[in-house]
Parts: sequence; structure tokens; C-alpha cells
Amino acid sequence: MAKTVLVTGGNRGIGQQVCRGLATQGWDVLVGSRDKQKGTRTATRLREETGGRLRGVEIDVASDTSVAAAAQKLRDGALKLDAIVNNAGIFRGATATDTLETNFFGPLRVTLAMRPLMTDTATVTNVTSGLGELSNLDAKHAALLSSPSITRDALVEHIRAFLAGRDPDWGTDAYGVSKAALNALTRVLATELAPIKVNSTCPGWVRTDMGGRNAPRTVEQGASSVLFGVTAKATGRVFRDGREIAP
Ligand SMILES: NC(=O)c1ccc[n+]([C@@H]2O[C@H](COP(=O)([O-])OP(=O)(O)OC[C@H]3O[C@@H](n4cnc5c(N)ncnc54)[C@H](OP(=O)(O)O)[C@@H]3O)[C@@H](O)[C@H]2O)c1
Repeated sequence: MAKTVLVTGGNRGIGQQVCRGLATQGWDVLVGSRDKQKGTRTATRLREETGGRLRGVEIDVASDTSVAAAAQKLRDGALKLDAIVNNAGIFRGATATDTLETNFFGPLRVTLAMRPLMTDTATVTNVTSGLGELSNLDAKHAALLSSPSITRDALVEHIRAFLAGRDPDWGTDAYGVSKAALNALTRVLATELAPIKVNSTCPGWVRTDMGGRNAPRTVEQGASSVLFGVTAKATGRVFRDGREIAP
């Protein structure tokens, strides 16, 4: 039986290429998009292009209501998920709150909401960035995030403190904080959700609307690096191009 994957932010950029790749490999692909029409349009185009099975799912990862509604719709359709790719993200230029709500709380919100729909052999792939490497953080926050004993609640509390201005200086900006925290979340969820596999994958610097024209990597290269997580056997790790890298 075909496997089903949900890709957030699947309407353009790396997410769209991930949808294309998985549809070509025979997956049933749910093209997540915060704009319903954009998701449907992308699904239709990729169906024509690949001959695969894709459909749009409206999901704004920064909204509890939207994510809950998407989960309910999938439940109503008796869908089971074999993989989630938490790809939706925003870069610099947004407020710190929007950045963290999308890049950190988004994957957490989506994963927890979809958990009851996921099979025991499912994978979760969190799309991270080299800008979230611990080496970009000050020593205190690098130690906090790399602590093996950090819990989900503690991690969330550190991010809330950052956003509330109670602990503003992490040695990097909100985007770097969001992806560093996402890598720590990957580790925490890998333990919490076992036997489901949870990994972070980094696409590298890619020519998309986000990465810009000067990025050295194609969208195909970026998506291929991300796709590794969908069938990964390891859990709680960070990968680029199929090789484990330091978080
Ligand atoms: N490009 C790079 O060089 C690079 C490097 C490292 C990591 N990454 C990561 O790779 C992922 C994809 O990046 P990209 O380059 O493909 O970016 P992109 O071209 O800007 O596309 C971003 C995607 O995320 C969606 N999105 C943003 N906020 C959302 C929300 N609240 N709910 C649902 N969808 C939302 C966008 O939807 P709309 O069309 O509705 O805006 C769009 O589909 C991101 O997580 C990014 O941080 C990218």
C-alpha cells in the first residue's frame, strides 16, 4: 500500500520539490499550504507532471486553530501518516515571535497534532539550517540546548523567555535561535515519540525565494538533502546530504 506524507510549506521552494520527489517515488503526498488555493494549484500541477497522487491540505503551521483543523480533516478521512516533513519556514525580516512561531513552535504543533494519525514506523523530518548550529550560539545557550537532560517543557520555556525579552541575547538572531531550538526539539521528540523516528535535515544554502539568487545549491540538491530524513533509520540526529553533522 502506498505511504502517505504531509509536507508543510509544500506549495513552493524546497517543500514543493520534496513533494515532487516523493510523488515520483510513489508516495501519496499531502501538499501543505497556508493558502488553500496555492496548495491545490501546486498539487494539480505536480499530479500532471509526475502522474503521482497529490492533494492540497490547508495548514498554517503558526496557528493552533489551523493545525487542529487540518488534523481533524485527515482524521475524518481516516488517513494514516507515514511521514511528516516540517518544512514551512520564514527567514529574516519577520518579527522574532513570527519566526519562532513558524520555525520552532510550528513543527512542534504539527507533530503533536498529527501524532495520533502516525504509524509506529513513521518518520518526522524537521528542516533545519546551518545558521542553527550550536557553534553560532553563545556558550551558555549552546550548553542549554545540547544538555541531554533538557525536556520539551524546559526548551519551550527558554524560547518563551527569549521572546519575552527575559533572556534576549543568545549570540545569534531569532532565525538562528529557531533552528538551534528545532534541533534540540528533534532530539527531545525522538525520545518522546519512539519508535517514530525524528531527525533534522539541512538543505544547505539553496536558490529559492528564501535563499536568493546567489545561493550555490539548486532546489533539487536542497530537497534531496531533506528527503534523507523521510526514510532515515537513525533518530534524534541532524543530517546534511545524508551525512550526520554537528547540531
Ligand atoms: N533556502 C535556503 O537556503 C535554506 C537554507 C537552510 C534552511 N532552509 C529551510 O528550508 C525550508 C524551506 O525553505 P525555502 O527556501 O523553500 O523557503 P521559501 O521558498 O521561502 O518557502 C517557504 C515555504 O514555507 C511556507 N510557510 C511560511 N510560513 C508558513 C506558515 N506559517 N504556515 C505554512 N507554511 C508557511 C511558505 O508558504 P507561502 O507561500 O504561503 O509563503 C512557503 O511554502 C525552511 O524551513 C527554511 O528555513 C532554507
